[in-house]
Amino acid sequence: AAPSMASGAGFLQCLKTSIPSNLVLTRGSPSFEPVLVSSIRNAEQLGPAKANPPLSIVTPTNYSHVQSAVRCSARHGVRLRVRSGGHDYEGLSYRSTFTHDHEPFAVVDLFNLRHIMVDSVTPTPMAYVQSGATLGELYYAIGKQDPKLAFPAGLCPTIGVGGHLSGGGIGLMMRKYGISADNVIHATIVDAAGNLLEGREAMGEDLFWAIRGGGGGSFGIVQLSPVPPKVVFFQVAKTMAQGAARLVSKWQTVAPALPDDLSLRVLVVNRTVRFQGLYIGDGGCHEALKIMTQRFPELGATANDCREMSWLESTAYVYFGQFGNASTPVEALLNRTFPVGSFLKHKSDYVKTPIPEASWEKILSWPFGGATDGQLMLEPHGGSMGAAFKDFETPGPGPYPHRRGVLYNIHYIEVYSENLSTNPPSWITGLYDFMEPLVSSNPRSAYVNYRDLDIGVNKDGVASYESAKVWGERYFGAANFERLARIKAKVDPKNHFRHEQSVPLIF
Ligand code: FDA
Repeated sequence: AAPSMASGAGFLQCLKTSIPSNLVLTRGSPSFEPVLVSSIRNAEQLGPAKANPPLSIVTPTNYSHVQSAVRCSARHGVRLRVRSGGHDYEGLSYRSTFTHDHEPFAVVDLFNLRHIMVDSVTPTPMAYVQSGATLGELYYAIGKQDPKLAFPAGLCPTIGVGGHLSGGGIGLMMRKYGISADNVIHATIVDAAGNLLEGREAMGEDLFWAIRGGGGGSFGIVQLSPVPPKVVFFQVAKTMAQGAARLVSKWQTVAPALPDDLSLRVLVVNRTVRFQGLYIGDGGCHEALKIMTQRFPELGATANDCREMSWLESTAYVYFGQFGNASTPVEALLNRTFPVGSFLKHKSDYVKTPIPEASWEKILSWPFGGATDGQLMLEPHGGSMGAAFKDFETPGPGPYPHRRGVLYNIHYIEVYSENLSTNPPSWITGLYDFMEPLVSSNPRSAYVNYRDLDIGVNKDGVASYESAKVWGERYFGAANFERLARIKAKVDPKNHFRHEQSVPLIF
């Protein structure tokens, strides 16, 4: 039955008796809206978030506040949306498409829980990191403590650790060290009953497996990866006239087969293809270019395209360099306050068989239609991502299924100047349809961290396993999705934590 608004009042009362009142923001609080919009990165979600705001935003400063919020929400039938960095492409961490009468909700925003501690002297160097920290804060803390340590994760420094690790985390070092979630060695979470479960033993191996890619982790310890004091970054840009389609076509088989120390990704912006390489082996530019000359001479990478820098510097260089500000100091990685930005729509695919050059000619010259910009990012897999799972040291991979046999991931980004209702997506939907016969099939795979509600939703939060399979098997594969649904039934039997694409239950 639909909880009444009276339960909303009861919920707020419950929060106020168990959490300091300055940490519970209600719709009337002056800081409610500024906090709500503070980490929204997609202008497309701003209107919906304000039109159907949460009953409250809880901003915990310690774990007991998270536990209280979960207990109050369960008792009063109010759903919780959990937000770390707010980068969810569909805004599911702070907005709901369900009607408020049916599913009143509150947001637990973890931005105050962002402590990081790097331990570089143990035999397995590690970092303790809270969910509300950003990747930039984590990179900075690691790089300042020991320039020979790194953590494999995504590009954008304002991404939250919580969402990133619970959805996987792909980036330029995964070919050697796996995705971010593969490197989580310990976690602490709050379950649906409000219990604090500290560590693998407390939560059990199934739940520990599920949170490392299936959504839901809260606080954890991540294993750090060795890198040389200087890593190498190089970039070569090619236009269509310079043979971009032929080069991308060749790249598809070259990049996944390069040595694990070298990752060569592709960025397509304004019909120019940028090949970006990160080399984390020994020997600097000299060695990186030697490999490139052997494996991909057609690209013509030279010493002029190549730079050596610390791994920490490379994270700032690669990210800010996209916007023409490659010399931005590493301290900018700590900046959490960015403007909302453009209207965006994202989609993803995985490619297992190389796409013919003639198709690349069409893809690279696709008309923008209503979009102001259309971008593609191709992230090579292979390396340890394609290796047998036994090659992984502890703790082994979680629900991210796109490993063996995957050549690369495609991330489609459509940029708008106005919202979707006045400017419906044209570039991205047209291109996505065109790509169907060229990409993975049965099912056509997608990456859960590039959240896309077009591929299917749980109507009003409730889904049968059969109906949820439509999107779930695309994100997780059939076996992993089924395992997630069985674990979900065990740890959250009342389906308390639910949203538009939450995992259904199999009893
Ligand atoms: P947010 O706070 O919105 O959370 C995302 C999801 O996780 C929500 O469903 C939320 O409820 C849940 N969640 C968050 N914290 C939780 C917690 N503590 N416990 C339980 N659930 C929690 N990805 C990638 O792999 N590689 C990349 O290079 C990039 N690059 C990139 C650039 C930019 C500009 C954006 C906006 C996004 C990316 N991403 C990415 C995608 C990114 O990894 C993805 O959106 C993450 O889920 C974002 O995590 P946040 O914590 O920021 O999001």
